[in-house]
Amino acid sequence: MCGIFGYVGARSASPILLEGLRTLEYRGYDSAGIYVPGQAPVRAVGPIDNLAAKLTAPLPGSAGIAHTRWATHGAPTELNAHPHLDMSGTVAIVHNGIIENYRELKEGLIMQGITCTSDTDTEVLAKLIGSVYRGDLLAAVREALSFVRGTYGLVAMSERRPGEIVTARMGSPIVIGIAADGNLISSDPSALLAHTKDVIYLEDGECAVVTKDSYEVMTISGKKLNKSPETVEWDVESVQKQGYEHFMLKEIFEAPSVIENTIRGRLMPEKGRAKLGGVERVLDTLVDLDRLTIVGCGSAYYAGQVGRYMFEEYAGLPTEVELGSEYRYKRNLPDKNSAVIAVTQSGETADTLASVREAKSLGLLTLGVVNVVGSTIARETDAGVYNHAGPEVAVASTKAFISQLTVFVLLTLLIGREKGLSAEEGKRIAAELAALPGVLEQYLKNTDNIATVAKKYAAYRDAMFIGRKFHTPIAYEGSLKLKEVTYTHAEAYAGGELKHGSIAMLDEQFPVIALVPKDDVYEKMVSNIEEVRARKAPVLAIATEGDMHIKAVADDVLFIPKMHPILQPIVTTIPLQLLAYYIGVEKGLNVDRPRNLAKSVTVE
Ligand code: M6R
Repeated sequence: MCGIFGYVGARSASPILLEGLRTLEYRGYDSAGIYVPGQAPVRAVGPIDNLAAKLTAPLPGSAGIAHTRWATHGAPTELNAHPHLDMSGTVAIVHNGIIENYRELKEGLIMQGITCTSDTDTEVLAKLIGSVYRGDLLAAVREALSFVRGTYGLVAMSERRPGEIVTARMGSPIVIGIAADGNLISSDPSALLAHTKDVIYLEDGECAVVTKDSYEVMTISGKKLNKSPETVEWDVESVQKQGYEHFMLKEIFEAPSVIENTIRGRLMPEKGRAKLGGVERVLDTLVDLDRLTIVGCGSAYYAGQVGRYMFEEYAGLPTEVELGSEYRYKRNLPDKNSAVIAVTQSGETADTLASVREAKSLGLLTLGVVNVVGSTIARETDAGVYNHAGPEVAVASTKAFISQLTVFVLLTLLIGREKGLSAEEGKRIAAELAALPGVLEQYLKNTDNIATVAKKYAAYRDAMFIGRKFHTPIAYEGSLKLKEVTYTHAEAYAGGELKHGSIAMLDEQFPVIALVPKDDVYEKMVSNIEEVRARKAPVLAIATEGDMHIKAVADDVLFIPKMHPILQPIVTTIPLQLLAYYIGVEKGLNVDRPRNLAKSVTVE
């Protein structure tokens, strides 16, 4: 949450900073601001466009820092927007994270006659750094941070040394980009791609001084570190819309290539097996587990729920799924022989990260299913699988979810074949998975019917999603997509749960989206549809191509290709993502950046 960008080099800084902020805007868009030493900070409420409108000409200077905010402490006003200054007005900082003891620190500052004008914890940190600044910004930052409790990705500059940027990290990501004409700092490597693929990831407890042609990394306690740049594998095109109207649409349409990239070199159709280099070393342990726990938040949690059905049904591996925000705080009583898999697109989600740390403290093996290479969770887990889905820019997760389900199929094959999944079944799954990109490519050629149906369902204030087994979590994911992209009140239930209470809500104004592919619970789902129709609720069915019976029981039907049951949820997800997208567009909403959200939830 919140995006940070910094540049020190040979070129004019403010256009570069503005462009960097645009790439980071998905991390928060309550307000934005920019600072170039020697100039007053420029800040604006709302999206980056509002800040750009204020910057009628580039600010003079070839170094600066910038920020796009997702508000935590203090309303999204211009006064609360970053950058914040110290008392002298010569030290500026931008910050991502939460300073937990900011009230205490503020009182200490007030006793020294230092006051804050905003409601933010960040301004307290700026004032604190200024209060201990004696000509060496790095020393001041390190000293100030020794008083701080909380999380930060921090970037600071002083007017007195305008060619130097100081940065520090504790809990919120900081990446340094090494480019030919200068160096950069960002919360996310994707924002650096326009300049460089050579990056240095700061770890928690590290800080750095960055100039035009040098960088020096050390621990906040002062121990020098020798860090060499790593190469980011993504291309700059992957963070561009490439002709699509929205990133969300582009990312939904990337599903075929995402699956291809996720399975590349990992699937052995002729053997009905999968190989995953990142878990090879711990495969014996995984095969012998008594229990596996999957942890994630939001869509990643729902992907984990689907993963549980896959592992239990096809790999015979007892599995439970926990929300990151619960697992980290509850008393966990793991079997001696258990492990934790953290599922996360960003690799930075605070609650998922804290769960990994909790699992480690319990002595458990930890694995990650992570999209962003080099992210904190990727680095802190013992083993894992990268999604290779490419950068996901739209706030609503679409292609990453598809890739997470795909990784669970690969893991099911890998573990299952060692635990009794037959070669015949393994080959069937592997062959269909290999064919899936082509099937989806074909399916996505005509989505006009989804857009048409979306126009009708956009008129409703409520929606209920139902499914069974593999499609229960997909119902939850469909409902989450609709909520976050269209602000429609949406609920999700396992089909069998309706009559235990929630069916009471249904009437002719409360449509039901029923996931009813031809599988072993098809008949049960059809009964559920009959029950909701008896309450006059309109029914939109997502059903298997060729299912003529469903037309008689549902008001509208979106047909999907039939796949092996383990792969079916991947296919069923696509029309739900598109439905949310088209309803959001129909309502005239900003589908890429829904209100109140940020993509990477790095605060707790
Ligand atoms: O980066 P992560 O996968 O850990 O993020 C988890 C959730 O914050 C994320 O899936 C969120 O629910 C999305 N807005 C869903 O579209």
